[in-house]
Amino acid sequence: MKIAIIGASGYAGGELIRLLVHHSTADVVCATSRKLAGTPLDQVHPQLKGFTSLNFENPEIDAIDADVAFLAVPHTAAMTYAGKLLSRGIKVVDLSADYRLPKEIYEKAYGVPHTDYFPAPYGIPEIHRKDCIGAKFVSNPGCFPTGATLAAAPLARYAHTVIYDSKTGVSGAGDNPSATTHYPNVGDNIGPYKLTSHRHLAEMKQELSHLGSAAKCYFTPHLVPVNRGILTTAHILLNEPMDQKDVENLYRDYYKDEYFVRFQKPSLAAVRGSNFCDIMVESEGSRVVAVSAIDNLVKGASGQAIQNMNLMCGLKEQDGLMHPGMLP
Ligand SMILES: NC(=O)c1ccc[n+]([C@@H]2O[C@H](COP(=O)([O-])OP(=O)(O)OC[C@H]3O[C@@H](n4cnc5c(N)ncnc54)[C@H](OP(=O)(O)O)[C@@H]3O)[C@@H](O)[C@H]2O)c1
Repeated sequence: MKIAIIGASGYAGGELIRLLVHHSTADVVCATSRKLAGTPLDQVHPQLKGFTSLNFENPEIDAIDADVAFLAVPHTAAMTYAGKLLSRGIKVVDLSADYRLPKEIYEKAYGVPHTDYFPAPYGIPEIHRKDCIGAKFVSNPGCFPTGATLAAAPLARYAHTVIYDSKTGVSGAGDNPSATTHYPNVGDNIGPYKLTSHRHLAEMKQELSHLGSAAKCYFTPHLVPVNRGILTTAHILLNEPMDQKDVENLYRDYYKDEYFVRFQKPSLAAVRGSNFCDIMVESEGSRVVAVSAIDNLVKGASGQAIQNMNLMCGLKEQDGLMHPGMLP
């Protein structure tokens, strides 16, 4: 299976290539970067030395020869490529935000017009698997909404309010340096940002609604000095109290067939480099605290994108994703 990665010099693109090394049938044949066209991949991604002899190339969309393309480019760029790739019969997984929300909500949340809108399956397979199987296009969810939604999903329809408090590693911001990600500002430090207005809130609300919940939803992210990972504490305020045993049974039953959801005390290190989402729940009656941990670049981006590709192509869902975490 020939794979093209548009935006391969970034963090999500590099991670796609790293994970696909272990895929049984996927072969990355095209990796794009406009700034680095002609440069060997391993000069930018030294972790891949010995695993690829490709050079970056310009994204010449009309010339790409692939079965599946991953769009690992910023939002607004993905919408200029998705339709063209699809019209050439190439299946597409979009890692950007361009197809995660209905047009009007996207335009409001991102403050830009959508120039090539079409509806798409929202690829959290644990919740939308049926829509992803055999699809030609899947919109890969945001990293925060993935961890948050998996933490709250089993209780969503019993809740009147859900408050997500997330801590994220710095690679979530991509490889473009900024004052926020500058080491002296991040190292030995922790701080909140976008206290009430992060764009991912729209996806979180959309998923609660999809799960049959009318709960109010709030979200505040914090930047912590680690490279990878998102830990989300979900405070789920219930309409009726539920005891610990019932909550645990509900979660275990909800995820009983889900390979990538594990029940144990979440920690970023235990999921680092892996496609797992670790969850822990505790009830104090009408408030349940559910905590999830994911690697933002794997379950929050490239791993989940490969999970979606596998579903789209009728492959084993875990293909290429059988990596345990990296602790310590
Ligand atoms: N980082 C995460 O944890 C994470 C998690 C979930 C989703 N995502 C999403 O995944 C996408 C990639 O994220 P990232 O963190 O990997 O970003 P990144 O590190 O900034 O990389 C962006 C990549 O896109 C390419 N690119 C930028 N503008 C382009 C354009 N107009 N046309 C073609 N290529 C373009 C860049 O190379 P050139 O500029 O050289 O072409 C680079 O290879 C984003 O939409 C992001 O929101 C990221």
